[in-house]
Amino acid sequence: MKVLDASFVQGFIRMGYDGFLQNYHERNGGNLSYRIKQEEVESVRENFTPDKPWQPIGTEVPQLAGEYFMVTGSGKYFRNLPLDPEANTAIIEVDEKGENYRIVWGLCNGGRPTSELPSHLMNHEVKKRVSNGRHRVIYHAHPTNVIALTFVLPLTDEVFTRELWEMATECPVVFPDGVGVVPWMVPGGREIAVATSRLMEQYDVAIWAHHGMFCSGEDFDLTFGLMHTVEKAAEILVKVLSIRPDKLQTITPQNFRDLAKDFKVTLPEKFLYEK
Ligand code: 13P
Ligand code: ZN
Repeated sequence: MKVLDASFVQGFIRMGYDGFLQNYHERNGGNLSYRIKQEEVESVRENFTPDKPWQPIGTEVPQLAGEYFMVTGSGKYFRNLPLDPEANTAIIEVDEKGENYRIVWGLCNGGRPTSELPSHLMNHEVKKRVSNGRHRVIYHAHPTNVIALTFVLPLTDEVFTRELWEMATECPVVFPDGVGVVPWMVPGGREIAVATSRLMEQYDVAIWAHHGMFCSGEDFDLTFGLMHTVEKAAEILVKVLSIRPDKLQTITPQNFRDLAKDFKVTLPEKFLYEK
């Protein structure tokens, strides 16, 4: 099968372009990766040219040895994804030590995988373990309202989770584990990858202060939906704070506990503090 005919490739392109349409991806902002299923690898393997050199990942991901990923290219625009997927994305293979990768398909006009590859792969490694292999998508975007909030809210998991949960009744059902926050750090390297992947041990969402957000999920729909839900809650909060600094009424800790019971989710008490 041709790579572009594979449904995982079509799902990848559609999700990326949907992100562009939501204004999550100015210029080359954001990046996307998908841990390809073994049977999907076999269905497109005939197109692979594994003759490119191995390159260092910049960190170690031994639990991903031998895995294949579809990734966006560094400096590539999400806006162009559907026009030329082969120039803007790549399929990469991770070596047997989990220290190097090589491009086996794509980036046909040159280039390299996203500069956030260390964060993507370290997040994949954690999520593969804690989700028993179910999570396959890691998505980084630059959504406006989440970024705006990192200038005005304390940069703690507790405050961000609680304030976002209060903005829409569905929020604690969509991300019951909450969201983690990484203080401002230099992007693109191992240090921010380590900090983010630590948060991914307990959350599916990590917010990068003054930069953007990472989401993890089982498939393209769930991961895009998670990004979309968090950013929409952030948009409501920005509007609320813009109208008046204090809320007249809101969803209370007891309301959340009642919701948790009926919707059969566990909401950690650390987020249901008294204000
Ligand atoms: P890349 O173009 O290298 O993927 O970088 C974009 C980005 O958002 C960096 O955080
Ligand atoms: Zn970014």
